[in-house]
Amino acid sequence: KKIYLKDYKKPSYDVETVDLDIKVFDDHALVDSTLVMHRQAEGDLVLYGEDVELLEISINGEALSSEGYSQSDGKLTISDTPDQLTLQLQVRICPQTNTALEGLYMAGTGSDTMFVSQCEPEGFRKITFYPDRPDVLAVFTTRLEASKRYPTLLANGNLIEQGVVADAPDRHYAIWHDPTHKPSYLFACVVADLDVLTDYYTTSEGREVTLELYAKAEDIDKCHVGMQALKDAMVWDEVNYGRAYDLDRYMIVAVSQFNMGAMENKGLNIFNTACVLSSPETTTDIRSFNVKAVIAHEYFHNWTGNRITCRDWFQLCLKEGLTVYRDQSFSADHQSSAVQRIDDVSMLRAHQFSEDAGPLAHPVRPESFVEINNFYTTTIYEKGAEIVRMLANTLGPEKFRQGTDEYFRRYDGQAVTVEDFLSALSVADSKIERFIDWYRQPGTPVVSGHQHYDSQAQTLTITLSQQTRHVAGFDAPKPLPIPVATALFAKDTGAIVAERMLLLEEDEQVFTFENVTSEPIVSLLRDFSAPVQLNYDYHDEDLAFLLKYETNGFNRWQVTQLLVNRILLKGHHPSIYLQAVADTLPQLAVDDPMLAARLLDIPSARELASAIHKDYDPSSIKQQREGLYQQVADSLAEQWTALYQQLPIQGYEDSPKARGARALRNVVLDMALTAQVEGADKWAQQQYDNASCMTERFGALKALVDHQVAGVNDYLADFYERFKADELVIDLWFSVQASAEQVSTDDITALLEHADFDWNTPNRVRSVISALTSQPTVLWTSEGLDIYTGAIQRLDEANPVLASRLLQVLARWYTLVEPQRQMAHDKLSALQKQASSKHVLESLDSVLAAAQ
Ligand code: ARG
Ligand code: ZN
Repeated sequence: KKIYLKDYKKPSYDVETVDLDIKVFDDHALVDSTLVMHRQAEGDLVLYGEDVELLEISINGEALSSEGYSQSDGKLTISDTPDQLTLQLQVRICPQTNTALEGLYMAGTGSDTMFVSQCEPEGFRKITFYPDRPDVLAVFTTRLEASKRYPTLLANGNLIEQGVVADAPDRHYAIWHDPTHKPSYLFACVVADLDVLTDYYTTSEGREVTLELYAKAEDIDKCHVGMQALKDAMVWDEVNYGRAYDLDRYMIVAVSQFNMGAMENKGLNIFNTACVLSSPETTTDIRSFNVKAVIAHEYFHNWTGNRITCRDWFQLCLKEGLTVYRDQSFSADHQSSAVQRIDDVSMLRAHQFSEDAGPLAHPVRPESFVEINNFYTTTIYEKGAEIVRMLANTLGPEKFRQGTDEYFRRYDGQAVTVEDFLSALSVADSKIERFIDWYRQPGTPVVSGHQHYDSQAQTLTITLSQQTRHVAGFDAPKPLPIPVATALFAKDTGAIVAERMLLLEEDEQVFTFENVTSEPIVSLLRDFSAPVQLNYDYHDEDLAFLLKYETNGFNRWQVTQLLVNRILLKGHHPSIYLQAVADTLPQLAVDDPMLAARLLDIPSARELASAIHKDYDPSSIKQQREGLYQQVADSLAEQWTALYQQLPIQGYEDSPKARGARALRNVVLDMALTAQVEGADKWAQQQYDNASCMTERFGALKALVDHQVAGVNDYLADFYERFKADELVIDLWFSVQASAEQVSTDDITALLEHADFDWNTPNRVRSVISALTSQPTVLWTSEGLDIYTGAIQRLDEANPVLASRLLQVLARWYTLVEPQRQMAHDKLSALQKQASSKHVLESLDSVLAAAQ
């Protein structure tokens, strides 16, 4: 059943306090709850519950008979209730068989198990009946009771009591009280046997906070990076947004079975182990950097999400877009800001642009949905963050801070909307309100333009226009306010002669620059000032010029990407690009190795495919990508040896410079193998054998695998032996094989049959199944699709959130060339007949509708 933003109604009852008592037993759990409620609007009292068995229910001490309430479609409705009431419930749930990883579930197997909760967005209703919606804010007190085999009993807030259960000496309990008013999706509890790393932080307001990171005993050594990131994030939010932490304890718990990256539950974050554990020996630089970003993200939610929350789930981007923008800004302070911007924009272009170009396109604030879990998308997160970035840049740092201060002042403790956010920011500048259409309208705008130089008048005019595709089911697109950061470069000196932020607000607009003494080269959309596609009448030579003279690293990268796109999608000759790279690389490798590594990026097959709307032929795109890669490798063949050797292994250090050197070294190694540089096989083997950290070891392993270097199987076996006790490293071992250049469907099948493959652990499933999507020539074959849709079908009932996310990646099947198109259609239709979860069915309906 579809629900609509326009149908929003205030809940009839508010909850003042909730007392929960959760008793975990060997094969079930009992949950008692006491809710003190009062009426705030007309209507019945409505509670939501899913997979919970109601044992008892009473109002103001009087048991309700089964006539006293009605139950249907996951709702429990009680009519004619008093305005002030105390509701008491007892339910039975079964965390041991909960494979969906929502609500309270058991993770692990055998003697190594733990219980954790995941309540966002609508998981609390799998723990007990409750008005489970984000605009109901209550004070929670939680008693947890379990066998002493689980010494760790955690819930939100402060620990107020613990002890042994009176008549069951092998059981113990703990009582936690959270003084903040919070929606049920921020509830969390953990019943486990974990070790803890403890540290302390004193806030700018003088509050002493205990920081605790809980993990399995063998993982505690890998918690230091996360702990440091947490302290960095706490300082950062005080300095940049004036926000300090508000409880005496901040807890993070690592669990290996988790659908997403992490969850910002009040005072008790729960993390996928992949997003919190890190050590140089076992974690690549990319993942380790990601750990810091996710820790910061969840911490920042304490203000943007928890203290100010969403009125309803249509407003999801209110907390996610803003929080992603905040974590991106945090990360930009911990490495070169150009590289941070490159990584954020690559991610947006590869994933969000293709989502926006397909049948799952939706506004950053959707207007309807069947299953909200299907909307934790790159559009809501990453495009949402780009909108906040445009707002911040439009206001400038001081006014943006004034606007966010106003947002926190006005709405602290409330559940609000995107309009509320814009209205707070607009105290700094009223033009902010015009950005609302960015939240309402799906599709990626295309900005096209050309220039005219008048040497008599000494003026340069730039004409820009915008166009957004009309997505079925939405109003005709309106022009959006698009900030286009622009600079003019003198052709003779390469110096900047003018710099301006052009605000394109009409379908077409002409911008004039005065006193321009000779025709300049124009650099547009600097720092990716808006999430749009740019289509400007450059000559390839102009782009090569900009690669040389642009002052900002992001802009230099952006012109290489424009050049590569022209070569791969428009058939331009590669010589200008190859020459420009050859001219730039040697010096850049010395000055900024991380940027040098990025400069050799060729967009993924997936990103390229997002620009192809018909007759997409995966093998021809693969051939062209590889052809260009080969040309780059060959044209610089003389240089790889020197480049590789000037970046020696020097022992491990976690600095931007050292990470840059490692990243470039891995790229150079791959290039050298591609160009068949004499001895490159040996470099790879030695880099593996002598690695000082996982970035080096895994980079070498990946090169050995992708180039099928002699002895590669011994290296794979060695890697497995070394790390077989470490799940996260074994995920890497699976994924390096599943995403290998030469992978076949038989290889994938063999990985799925490996003793360590496990359908109940999302990280492991993704390490093979999601890796397949990086090889479209394998994915879009009959066998490839059977494997992929087979995985979706298998997970459809067991873990619909994961199944539906895997499915969403197939959304642009209809752009394929025949006969793959028909084949994909048939497999998806077959899947539709088998599927049962509303998650998968909603996605499939949209995905198949693309065929018309
Ligand atoms: N709020 C979390 C975050 O962005 C994501 C949790 C989403 N969970 C889900 N089941 N969809 O950090
Ligand atoms: Zn988030």
